[in-house]
Amino acid sequence: MRIYHAKDYADMSRKAANIVSAQVIMKPNCVLGLATGSTPIGLYKQLVEWFKKGDLDFSEVMTVNLDEYKGLSRENDQSYYYFMHQNLFDQVNIPVENTHLPNGMEPDSQKECKRYTELIQSLGGVDLQLLGIGHNGHIGFNEPGESFDKQVHCVDLTESTIEANKRFFASADDVPKQAYTMGIKTIMQAKKILIIASGEDKAEIVHKAFFGPITPQVPASVLQLHNDVTLVADEAALSSL
Ligand code: GLP
Repeated sequence: MRIYHAKDYADMSRKAANIVSAQVIMKPNCVLGLATGSTPIGLYKQLVEWFKKGDLDFSEVMTVNLDEYKGLSRENDQSYYYFMHQNLFDQVNIPVENTHLPNGMEPDSQKECKRYTELIQSLGGVDLQLLGIGHNGHIGFNEPGESFDKQVHCVDLTESTIEANKRFFASADDVPKQAYTMGIKTIMQAKKILIIASGEDKAEIVHKAFFGPITPQVPASVLQLHNDVTLVADEAALSSL
């Protein structure tokens, strides 16, 4: 695993964006696995800036997102569909048909998980998977205790994730209780993984995930077994190392 030390959030965002843009430049028709949350917002902003300068071309890029809340429509401003359009897709030249997320409005979990797993396979797998990390070590929405051998599946969100995400909703009661997510197995099948972390509140979990035991209790710890992982984190997030 490579660790890039960034000064602060802006530096982390630029360093991580450099890695994503290198991927797009080296393989213009690559498959990017994308993530949501507050951490990647600066990275997406940087990619948009470079696109506007003429340094990046997304016309052949394909994307698959990690996860989506079950029960939120595309129009809901808390859906990951909305987030991705707002922060990236609508601001660059990626054809909308090249962008993919789980369909949060599909009530049949089995059907949707099968569709999304097959879709990722039909694209030839993910070249570069971007990840954030939850305070309990979740990646995508793979919560502690989740087995390492799952493909796309539907999860019940833990109290701590609902608590962490309620800042985006009117109240904790409005946070969806379930989500569709790529499983750990799906994530581990990506050729390269880029994980980003920022802020002191992530320091303890970053330490546990990358220097602690590999255990389903800390889902991100499985990344220690992947042969091409890059962690880009700022000083605060690396302060427990
Ligand atoms: C969310 C997302 C994850 C994200 C994580 C951390 O619940 N499902 O993909 O990495 O939590 O979010 P943040 O970057 O806002 O700390």
